[in-house]
Amino acid sequence: MSAPLLDIDDLTIVFGGGRGALPWQKLPDVRAVQHVSLQIDAGDTLGLVGESGSGKTTLGRAVLRFLRPQSGSIRLGDFDVTGFGRGAPVEYRKVVQVVFQDPVGSLNPSMLVGSIIAEPLRIHFGMDSAAARERAAELLTQVGLQRHHLTRYPHEFSGGQRQRIAVARALATEPDLLVLDEPVSALDVSTQSQVINLLERLQRETGMAYLFIAHDLAVVRHTCRRIAVMYHSRIVELGESDDICERPAHPYTDLLLASIPDPDPAVQHVKSQRRRELAQGVAGASGRAPIDSCPFAERCPHAMDVCRESFPEPVATSTGGTVWCHLHTSGPMLGGRPVSELATRPEACQAVSTSPSAADG
Ligand SMILES: Nc1ncnc2c1ncn2[C@@H]1O[C@H](COP(=O)(O)OP(=O)(O)O)[C@@H](O)[C@H]1O
Ligand SMILES: [Mg+2]
Repeated sequence: MSAPLLDIDDLTIVFGGGRGALPWQKLPDVRAVQHVSLQIDAGDTLGLVGESGSGKTTLGRAVLRFLRPQSGSIRLGDFDVTGFGRGAPVEYRKVVQVVFQDPVGSLNPSMLVGSIIAEPLRIHFGMDSAAARERAAELLTQVGLQRHHLTRYPHEFSGGQRQRIAVARALATEPDLLVLDEPVSALDVSTQSQVINLLERLQRETGMAYLFIAHDLAVVRHTCRRIAVMYHSRIVELGESDDICERPAHPYTDLLLASIPDPDPAVQHVKSQRRRELAQGVAGASGRAPIDSCPFAERCPHAMDVCRESFPEPVATSTGGTVWCHLHTSGPMLGGRPVSELATRPEACQAVSTSPSAADG
């Protein structure tokens, strides 16, 4: 078996808390990413999902080497990313590219589209202006725009078109890995599906790998072969997309699934109920990511004492994925069955519930 293209091993990223409002106040550190290990094979797609603030962008920025982790390692192809000195070498900027959520902020408003796309071509391939212009026109066509768009400014385009320009610029270096950080979150639903179709086609045409970051499981479900679910600095579940979506093993994955709206009112009703059960009235991760416990314990309807005492070891699920959840190491899910089975066995929930609110759920 060949080595994966991207290999992230035991990565931890902590931001210094900085100064508080008063001169002697020091804010606590923010543990944005804790002990994360992920791999992506060449040409493969990994979806990274989780709600806002879970650490997805920070992880993506570490892969892009926009920031340095405290510990752990990142390897991409032959590059030892965590071993780089002050900045990443220009050769590394060629093999990994990024498309951000906000196509307005990520494109220089004072540059013509032609220059935006030609810039990486000149830097990485040493093309002269005529050659770069020709290639930029080709790239625009590849993303569904036209040659005459070369002489326009970013503000002359719609959100979806701007995102196509950002994709064309990323494609210019012919990268091995594209980090897509919420690439469709700012777009309306019909434009979202057009951009997703474009990304799928481009992957078939070029064979590049994607790290596809999204807060919505519905967005990555059909685009990604595998999904990693992140909650408050930790990966809590990892597996094939269909398995994650049909037989979630972690209560947080279950909550994310219940958050996807369904056109069928009956299904939607059941989902809403499920969401209420799971959410327990707590809105999102609060405070700092804990070091020594499961960060989801404060919201989890199945939380046990052990969940507040230690972060669980990984367990293989029955569908071949991995889950980090005490229900699977010391609770009723021993043996790695999906969490949905727990939901249909309320007596099991009662048996493991230790908090009064969990017993109500
Ligand atoms: N530059 C920074 N300095 C301090 N804290 C940061 C910085 N960037 C992100 N964070 C914090 O790290 C956590 C994860 O943020 P982020 O990676 O942006 O999450 P996501 O992309 O999943 O929404 C958040 O608590 C955020 O406030
Ligand atoms: Mg983000």
